[in-house]
Order: sequence, then C-alpha cells, then structure tokens
Amino acid sequence: MRRLLVTGGAGFIGSDFVHYVLEHTDDSVTVLDKLTYAGNTDSLRDLPGDRFRLIEGDICDQQLVDHLFDEHDAVVHYAAESHNDNSLAGPAPFVQTNIVGTFTLLESARRTGIRFHHISTDEVYGDLEFDDPERFTETTPYNPSSPYSSTKAGSDLLVRAWVRSFGVRATISNCSNNYGPRQHVEKFIPRQITNAIDGVRPRLYGDGLNVRDWIHADDHSSAVLRILDAGVIGDTYLIGADGEKTNREVVELILEEMGQPRDAYDLVTDRPGHDKRYAIDWSKLRDELGWQPQFRDFAAGLADTIAWYRANEEWWRPQKAETEGKYAKVGQ
Ligand code: NAD
Ligand code: DAU
Repeated sequence: MRRLLVTGGAGFIGSDFVHYVLEHTDDSVTVLDKLTYAGNTDSLRDLPGDRFRLIEGDICDQQLVDHLFDEHDAVVHYAAESHNDNSLAGPAPFVQTNIVGTFTLLESARRTGIRFHHISTDEVYGDLEFDDPERFTETTPYNPSSPYSSTKAGSDLLVRAWVRSFGVRATISNCSNNYGPRQHVEKFIPRQITNAIDGVRPRLYGDGLNVRDWIHADDHSSAVLRILDAGVIGDTYLIGADGEKTNREVVELILEEMGQPRDAYDLVTDRPGHDKRYAIDWSKLRDELGWQPQFRDFAAGLADTIAWYRANEEWWRPQKAETEGKYAKVGQ
C-alpha cells in the first residue's frame, strides 16, 4: 500500500484519478488543492475516510509541500490553471501555478527523492494541419501556442531538467482532451450540455471545424496509474484513445442525444491563436507498458456524460451564470 499525494485532486481529472485509485488499489490518497474556482469539494464526496484526506493549500507554498512530501511515497501532480480562454484573459496565475508551482514541487522531490509523476498536455506540441498524416509522438518538438500551453511546456522542461541534473525520479505524461463527469462548465463539452439543458444554443468558435482527440477521463486515470507503477524514470508517455472529432461533430452528437435538431448551434467569435488539430500516437504506452483504453465508443461515453450532468445539476449550477458572463464579455 502506497501513500499517494495528488495535487489538484479537487479538479476534473485529478478527482477522477482519486476515485480510480481508491477503487482499483489499496493505496491511500492525500489531495493537496488550493480550491480555486476550478476545485470542487463535491467531486470528492463519499470517499473512504480511512484512506482519503483533503488538504487545502497552494503548491507554491514550499513549507507545506516539504512537509507533505515527507509523509508520502509518491506524488502525482495535476494541479494547474487549465483553461486556454482564461489564459488569454489573464496569464499571470498560469505562470505562477504551472511554472512556479511545478518548480516548488520539484525542489521537494529533489530533497526527498520521492517518486514524482507530472501530468501534462498534448498542447505542448502546438497543432497539426487538418490533412497531416502524422500524429504527435514523444519526440515531436515543443511548439506551444497559448499562455496555458506555453506554461505547461515550461513545466515539462523543468521536470526534464530536474531529472537530468538532480536525478529526480520523475515521469511525464501528455494527454489529449478528456471528457467525462465532474468537468467544469467552462470547458467545451460541459458548456454545450448545460447550455442545451438551459435551452441555450451551443456555441462553436470560428467555423467549428477544429479537431480535438477525445479520451474518457477514466482511461487517462488508468494510464497514469500504469505509468506510476511501471514507467521508466525520465521517460515521457503520450496518452490518447484515437478519438479525433471536429467540434461540430461533438456538438451534433450532444444535440442528437438530447433530442434537439443536430444543427441547433451558433458559430461565434473564434479563440485567438486557436489550435487547429491535436492527434496522439499512443503506441509507446501500448507497446512498452501494455496499456489499452477501455472507452472505445465515444457516443456512448458522451451519452453517459450527458446523463451525469442531467442528474447532478447541484454540482454545476452554482458556476454556470458567472462562467457564461465571462464568455458574453468576449462575444462567445
Ligand atoms: P481543473 O482546472 O479542472 O483542475 C485544476 C485543479 O488544480 C483545481 O482543483 C484547482 O483548485 C487546483 N489548483 C489550481 N491552482 C492550484 C495551486 N496553486 N495549488 C494547488 N491546487 C491548485 O483541471 P483539469 O482539467 O482537471 O486538468 C488537470 C491537469 O491535467 C492539468 O495539469 C492539465 O494541464 C492536465 N490536462 C488536462 C486535460 C483536459 O482535457 N482537461 C488534458 C491533458 C492534460
Ligand atoms: O488537449 C488537452 C487540453 O484540452 C488540456 O490541456 C486543457 O487543459 C483542456 O482545457 C483542453 O483544451 P482545449 O482548449 O482543447 O479545450 P476546450 O474545452 O477549451 O475547447 C475544446 C475545443 O472546443 C476547442 O477547439 C475550442 C472549442 N470551443 C470551446 C468552448 C468552451 C468551442 O467551440 N466553443 C466553446 O464554447
């Protein structure tokens, strides 16, 4: 039984990982989370009290981080400012949490020698042309576009340097777009589902033809656990599930599942610097660590996600009006 410290465990993917670990292992979990607008303690309800605890705190607080690293066997680092649109409106917290926060954790990892896994994104590689036959691999050059993705790229490079220079026992994973329950309503899929529930037409940026490579959050969690258990120190692993779809295709599926006309959406102002397409080659994870995604049917996973938002309005409703207010200011 390991004692895991999970940063950002009150967010979307971090909380999915906490649930996944508590269900599938004997490990105990401590979540360190600042509970920003994106952290939600309701995502961590009903977890076993003898194996789970939540510490409210900032990953930039070196004293707190040092103390927690001394009490644990491994760290999985999810905490981040995660939303591209917010990073365009105000990049400062992205630099602070994503870069300074990761630096703070790495300094404790260096001191303690603890096993460290860093969660990152495929966006560090920039974007692909729509007709490019290649997908991102572990050797694709870094070329981030937004303040968010550039701070994630910076954090990855810090991890690589701390491995090489100081022998920190770290791995990195870069995953594509996640979907599933407990994702903040600022993000594409929950925003459109909750708009449709509210009788508001979904909003697509630009021409709606940008492509994202969707993976269910539970598949992301199982891949991270596999890398934590069997990954080679210093290595990077790409996580994906062959889920490429245009944004239009996703919205049409949502509308169809919710019993509305497939074309009942609007095209709105595009995101500045909007990445065209992401696509992940996850063959290293399959060939070297024997991992496979379980959620192969996107439409079925999406239908379950829609059902979750319908059944859990008390989880998302408090954030909906403020989130839509922010979008309204920029015509989105
Ligand atoms: P999220 O915004 O839902 O959650 C982030 C969590 O981090 C929140 O609970 C927030 O309170 C916490 N946090 C923020 N700043 C903090 C700080 N200074 N100290 C402690 N906690 C802090 O994000 P998410 O979508 O769950 O993403 C989690 C991680 O996964 C991020 O590192 C992100 O880059 C990465 N990632 C996300 C996706 C995706 O599709 N959402 C895909 C690939 C990688
Ligand atoms: O690829 C991994 C990344 O996926 C993660 O690193 C990020 O943390 C995560 O937020 C996500 O980034 P995206 O920018 O791809 O996700 P977002 O949900 O913001 O948007 C998905 C796509 O949908 C993108 O092409 C923009 C578009 N979009 C988004 C919103 C909110 C719309 O067309 N309309 C919208 O209302």
